Amino acid sequence: MKSSCLFIPFFGILLIIVFSCSDQPEVVVEEKVDRVEAERLLGQLLFHERRLSKDNTVSCAACHIAELAFTDGVPKSAGIEGRTAFRNSPTLFNMKDQSLFMFDGVIETLEIQALSPIQDHNEMGSSIAEILGKLKEDKVYKKQVHKAYGRDLDAQAITQSLAAFQRTLTSTDSRYDLYQKNPKQYPLNEEELAGKKLFMETFNCISCHAEPHFTNGKPESNGIQLTTEDWGRYRATGKAEDKGKFKVPSLRNIAITHPYMHDGRFTTLEEVLRFYAGKKEAHGSEVVRGYKITTGEQRQLIAFLNTLTDTSFLTK
Ligand code: HEC
Ligand code: HEC
Repeated sequence: MKSSCLFIPFFGILLIIVFSCSDQPEVVVEEKVDRVEAERLLGQLLFHERRLSKDNTVSCAACHIAELAFTDGVPKSAGIEGRTAFRNSPTLFNMKDQSLFMFDGVIETLEIQALSPIQDHNEMGSSIAEILGKLKEDKVYKKQVHKAYGRDLDAQAITQSLAAFQRTLTSTDSRYDLYQKNPKQYPLNEEELAGKKLFMETFNCISCHAEPHFTNGKPESNGIQLTTEDWGRYRATGKAEDKGKFKVPSLRNIAITHPYMHDGRFTTLEEVLRFYAGKKEAHGSEVVRGYKITTGEQRQLIAFLNTLTDTSFLTK
């Protein structure tokens, strides 16, 4: 609503009562929107900035490619100087609803998370101090960080804007979501519905891959065979009960986020489901240890998993 000024005569004196005479509140709201957008843009710039890495070759986006739902299509991502990341690159959508990060699930905020790849020897091999040396006087960054935070680039501006950008990445428009909203208009076929029933009821996959994001966001063990170098969360906590636990990956956009598991050991969903149908290690949860999945059921599960692809997100 436009503001208005009222002029009211009172005891012969013309008193001017200024009632909501300025546009102040609207300006404040607009400024806030501008700042939020400026912060997002700063984060987006930094996300694609190769100078975050020691030798200026690797950006966050190198390992988290938008068209691949922010994964990178290889078992283990390429870091600086021909080195290889320790694990498979996970998706980065719907992060705003998560509270534990990394396969170990030991990092509690996106702001702190950003420091991990930046400082990791195999990934970016750099430091905040080194990055500030390169970017602080850069005209583009200077302008953008002043728009967002009204000050020069510093550690907090880097971590905060990267986190803000990632919180805007949401994927909630798959065929399955459309079906949920309006099953008549967007029906699933018989095979997909059979797969849904297996996923939700028969095999209780949903107990770990919980809706709405098809992850409960927690470290769990699906009984995967461990290699000597990676025992999952145990690596971070040293507790026996954490052996074999990895943060449950979201199954949204699963059709395109191959290869699968923390080390990218499986290339196809068929291989993943053959694993679930077969032998599990003792650290696996009771739920998965009881699985007997026929090849027909595997086909139905895959048909259902394919409905979780959000093409609008991938092309945004
Ligand atoms: C060399 C490849 C590589 C680069 C560069 C990289 N990442 Fe990652 N990212 C990974 C891998 C691998 C993991 C899983 C690490 C683990 O669990 O030990 C990961 C995990 C994450 C996670 C946790 C996701 C979750 O669901 O728990 C976030 C968030 C993230 N990266 C954001 C970033 C940001 C922001 C940058 C840039 C500052 C970045 N990544 C740079 C490979 C990379
Ligand atoms: C006890 C919890 C649990 C249950 C139950 C479970 N999963 Fe998982 N799932 C996980 C964990 C943990 C991972 C990641 C393991 C790793 O990275 O090594 C995973 C990984 C996956 C992946 C690969 C995801 C990726 O991006 O790499 C798929 C696909 C999958 N599960 C499907 C299923 C299906 C289908 C079922 C039911 C038949 C199921 N899961 C039941 C915990 C579970």
